[in-house]
Amino acid sequence: GPTPMIDPFGRTITYLRVSVTDRCDLRCFYCMSEDMTFLPRTDLLTLEELDRLCSAFIAKGVRKLRLTGGEPLVRRNVMSLFRSLSRHLKSGALNELTLTTNGSQLAKYAAELADCGVRRINVSLDTLDRDKFRAITRWGDIDKVLAGIKASQEAGLKVKINTVALKNMNEEEIPSLMRWAHDQGMDMTLIEVMPMGDVSGGRLDQYVPLSMVRSRLAGQFTMTDLTESTGGPARYVSVAETGGKLGFITPLTHNFCESCNRVRITCTGTLHTCLGQEDASDLRKPLRASADDALLSATIDRAIGLKPKGHDFVIDRRHTGPSVSRHMSVTGG
Ligand code: GTP
Ligand code: 5AD
Ligand code: SF4
Repeated sequence: GPTPMIDPFGRTITYLRVSVTDRCDLRCFYCMSEDMTFLPRTDLLTLEELDRLCSAFIAKGVRKLRLTGGEPLVRRNVMSLFRSLSRHLKSGALNELTLTTNGSQLAKYAAELADCGVRRINVSLDTLDRDKFRAITRWGDIDKVLAGIKASQEAGLKVKINTVALKNMNEEEIPSLMRWAHDQGMDMTLIEVMPMGDVSGGRLDQYVPLSMVRSRLAGQFTMTDLTESTGGPARYVSVAETGGKLGFITPLTHNFCESCNRVRITCTGTLHTCLGQEDASDLRKPLRASADDALLSATIDRAIGLKPKGHDFVIDRRHTGPSVSRHMSVTGG
């Protein structure tokens, strides 16, 4: 059978992130430019091809699978992919099937996601202020997201809030946003903005080091480091006053690459072994070349054998532009 995926630095790959579409119904200013152009639909892998790719990775040791985007729930018929992938949960091959979503479509899909074996979802939400939400997403309606979160909880899904810390935008609101999340029984993870792709304005105008946010929070809350992990890059603390957990994803201030366990594939079948490097391998060609997975598997092995040690993200006065050319929406984090 296929061999497990171990990279040159001894890291075993058990987590696959799949961007099922580069499209999104929002246009968060730190994620995309306003006039972002999307891939032609004819370039996309079919849902059947995405299923086959995921299944090949599961055969090679992937235990955690996350669908992302863009916004994964705007991909037409995406629920049939969840439905089909859920067989790997039933067989025990996969420990977790999940997604990261902006929440706008959750009211429609929450119950079906739960029915497909999804237990925990991450919803991106950077503010509770209606006008700020509109400013960040360019035209989003926060009520849709709040309704989506509610529907998800009613469907029995555990919801975690992902918040990108943004200078002069939500910095001040982070304590109250956390309190709100914890009050609703949701953990929250804070994320440092990463210099991915060209967006309007320099990254220095957006970036807040989480070390700063954390010291400010420490004035108001009692935070205790936890050793447990969800298998992602976040490091968690428990917050005594709220009883909730707060995660920190700190690519800029505290690199976590040495424990990296993940790779990602795009909706066109490109494998990126590092979020913060330009490395890319085409899997669509070997996928389409043969109904047998041998060539595909060998192509994956070759790419894993070249997985970089880590990212080179930097944001400072001399580096305000992108460290990598692709936007987050292409690789989905
Ligand atoms: P959990 O399963 O809840 O731990 O989720 P996760 O953190 O693995 O996934 P999620 O989609 O919620 O990711 C949150 C943020 O972490 C996103 O903005 C991702 O871009 C970022 N992220 C995930 N993996 C990596 C990584 O390998 N490197 C960097 N620099 N950022 C990452
Ligand atoms: N840096 C950090 N996080 C980003 N996201 C989108 N673009 C960036 C970026 N440049 C976040 C979204 C969502 C997750 C998938 O990635 O807000 O939470
Ligand atoms: Fe869409 Fe998420 Fe990017 Fe916002 S961060 S534009 S919700 S993909």
